[in-house]
Amino acid sequence: MTATRGLEGVVASETSISSIIDDTLTYVGYGIDDLAEKASFEEVVYLLWHLKLPTKSELETFKQELADHMELPKEILDSFKTYPIGKVHPMAALRTAVSALALYDDEADAMDREANLRKAIRLQAKIPAIVAAFARVRKGLEPVAPRRDLGFAANFLYMLKEKEPEPIEVEAFNKALVLHADHELNASTFTARVCVATLSDIYSGVTAAIGALKGPLHGGANEQVMKMLTEIGSVDKVEDYLHEKFINKEKIMGFGHRVYRKGDPRAKHLKKMSEKLTELTGQRKYYDMSVKIEQIVTSEKGIPANVDFYSASVYHCLGIDHDLFTPIFAVSRISGWIAHILEQYANNRIIRPRAEYIGPGMRQYVPLEDR
Ligand code: CMC
Repeated sequence: MTATRGLEGVVASETSISSIIDDTLTYVGYGIDDLAEKASFEEVVYLLWHLKLPTKSELETFKQELADHMELPKEILDSFKTYPIGKVHPMAALRTAVSALALYDDEADAMDREANLRKAIRLQAKIPAIVAAFARVRKGLEPVAPRRDLGFAANFLYMLKEKEPEPIEVEAFNKALVLHADHELNASTFTARVCVATLSDIYSGVTAAIGALKGPLHGGANEQVMKMLTEIGSVDKVEDYLHEKFINKEKIMGFGHRVYRKGDPRAKHLKKMSEKLTELTGQRKYYDMSVKIEQIVTSEKGIPANVDFYSASVYHCLGIDHDLFTPIFAVSRISGWIAHILEQYANNRIIRPRAEYIGPGMRQYVPLEDR
């Protein structure tokens, strides 16, 4: 038995949800370029869960169901005030709150598909509310109740800032949500599938996935990109900054991918949006710095930008706190996690691979007093 480091190239599951073939990403057969330009996030969530695009009336019902379930249990809101504010990363708060949500859901352990779809809607609706409410409570502000007349993207920005967002902000945020919704067997999705393949419940699967997304090699990269842009500060400092990183053999966040070789097809959409928003908000330097970083990393290292790279300057221009970038990734990716969880339940076998043992051979136990 020989181990494959990081399971590279291992096909661990069948799926009908999304595919990456020749650097092209599709959701249930629809190209990401089309979806990013034309679809609402709610349409994409419906597509991932039902494997078909909704009709007009199905979409309306679905949107209303999501808006209806955004309200959080009082116990969850109250619990935020008990967290050690100032020390808690919002991703840790989200992980804890999603796990706690299960305690207030009478159907938490129900396993039939209908119950799981009802829980899916509640989870998808409540995750943005958790992120927005925690972001406010930690600043001493009251949480803002969702509005039934706003779509998913607009509602999140409204709950975060208590101000109805501009159409361009909604467009940008909706696009980011669509682009992050699913991505075949990425680390957090695989984590969710491993968890529920034991026939554990959907809340456990999503909580486990949030834990996997939190790391800087996965969803945590977008916050690190913004940290890098802030540290660099201006275009003329990009070159020296990167060369020092290269000498120290440090990774540049927002670059590289296990599966894509020529480039991440999601990045160009966020790049365009970053240019538009940085221009509009008078913060063009973030776009210019990003372009220069991309030029140097691709030409000197041959490593293309991934989805996290330009999402950083987009979220920054939307006025979102930098440590909320990864929770926002979760707000979108939960749609994919749930789709994969439902798919796993529908054709389940426990996921239990083997390990190549490289420790010492069989040894005699040594009693404590003789060691
Ligand atoms: N900066 C500098 N060098 C890199 C980078 C990078 N961002 N990414 C890969 N490399 C180098 C790496 O050092 C290695 O070089 P060598 O063969 O000389 O040791 C080679 O490229 C292969 O990299 P790897 O780390 O073995 O590749 P992997 O498939 O195991 O990891 C990755 C993929 C995405 C974790 C990695 O590219 C990385 O750490 N990138 C930075 C973090 C990041 O942006 N993550 C977001 C990923 S996309 C969306 C998401 O999942 O959130």
